[in-house]
Amino acid sequence: MFIGLDIGTSSVKAILLDENQKLVASATSDLTVQRPHPSWSEQDPDSWWTACETAMDELARTAAGEMAAVKGIGLSGHMHGATLLGAGDKPLRPCILWNDGRSAKQCAELEAAEPKFLSLGGNRVMPGFTAPKLQWVRENEPEIFDKTAKVLLPKDYVRLKLTGEHVGDMSDSAGTLWLDVARRDWSDDLLAATGLTRDHMPRLVEGAESSGQLRPELCRRWGMASAPVVAGGGGDNAASACGVGATTPGSAFVSLGTSGVLFVTNDRFSPNVESAVHAFCHAVPDTWHQMGVILSATDSLNWLAGTLGAKPSDLTEGVGVISRPSDVQFLPYLGGERTPHNDVSIRAGFYGISHETDNRELTHAVLDGVAFALKDCMEALAVAGTSVERVTAVGGGSRSKAWLEIIASLLDVVVDVPADGDFGASLGAARLGQAAAAGTTEGIFTPPPMRTSIEPRPELTSAYSEAYSRWRKLYPALKQAGF
Ligand code: XUL
Repeated sequence: MFIGLDIGTSSVKAILLDENQKLVASATSDLTVQRPHPSWSEQDPDSWWTACETAMDELARTAAGEMAAVKGIGLSGHMHGATLLGAGDKPLRPCILWNDGRSAKQCAELEAAEPKFLSLGGNRVMPGFTAPKLQWVRENEPEIFDKTAKVLLPKDYVRLKLTGEHVGDMSDSAGTLWLDVARRDWSDDLLAATGLTRDHMPRLVEGAESSGQLRPELCRRWGMASAPVVAGGGGDNAASACGVGATTPGSAFVSLGTSGVLFVTNDRFSPNVESAVHAFCHAVPDTWHQMGVILSATDSLNWLAGTLGAKPSDLTEGVGVISRPSDVQFLPYLGGERTPHNDVSIRAGFYGISHETDNRELTHAVLDGVAFALKDCMEALAVAGTSVERVTAVGGGSRSKAWLEIIASLLDVVVDVPADGDFGASLGAARLGQAAAAGTTEGIFTPPPMRTSIEPRPELTSAYSEAYSRWRKLYPALKQAGF
């Protein structure tokens, strides 16, 4: 038996898999995001641990007979979060999350001062990443910066609670911008640019390697007969790739989670910084990946649902069968955008609202707008020399058939939908736990059984490509107007 524990932005998910990777049980526990100032986004690190305890206690209750056989645990989590620990491994402040935009000034300064962020780090210095957040803390909260003994990513703080070890994996650590991504090691120069050294960093392991063992008191609490290994695991996107079998070059997935992601596996480090494509290590050895990331995918839908006082699933069901693009266009930039604009200050908007516009049309516009932004990611990947023909859908938004149909036709790709639902990252984490326990990655990262495959519909593809050419003119027009 193997456990996957995914620290998502909106919930922690724990799943139990058997030796044949069949889902035996799952449990979730919700999390909230705090936004104390405009463009800030934070979470209390201890809220992750409380949510993990709740989910794991429930898993241990519902699968009581199976827990003794657990041999491996894998972790995944939202990337880039700056978790600053002081003496005794105590968090010094709330974690600054992946969708926080406070560090734009520090990004520009770091990029100008240290060109190796682009060459070794392989990415634009964007406010979502960890290094500029530390630079923000250094400038704005120097007393906290001075007390910082370790900087961990969110899932690695949970690992510390599980094992007592400070360890990070390659895929998540690449998202800090302190990693020499081609060499899969910390870069002393990149760390020095933000006043840090290797001593502030966790030890690095590959995602499918062991990072330590579960503490004895937790083994007793959850009914495990002997201490399972805890795998390095991965950032949520690399872990999702492991969950859907996207570990061979060219294999790809689209994620409709809080963020939206178009992810492609590469056999080498392939940076392309111009259009804000992300280039990171994969969670499997000797493998890298590129991805386009948009900041508000289901976050846009959840915002609309909250504003209309409706349930997101009721809104998406109400959209029905898609026969044309919406007459209303939506820019999903609630908290700025990463790929391709790298712009923290741009904000979302609807265009084309008329007397006839109702909740259904607004929802359709939001689904279209997120899909258009993912098409922007596809174009950015194309500039980086990477083409995508087939993707697997993961994330909560992939439960909406209408949304996947829009994406299939607009991106002109086949969208495969896994039979077991939206378990991407937690499934990948459990598989990494299995690989660490088995000491091999052989035969572990296979594509899961698919429920259906959605083909592009030619009549929709042409209507959507026209709508996309109109939509993509909105952002430059807004920028020209001074927004
Ligand atoms: C990736 C990113 C998000 C988070 C949250 O660069 O910031 O996808 O990992 O899911």
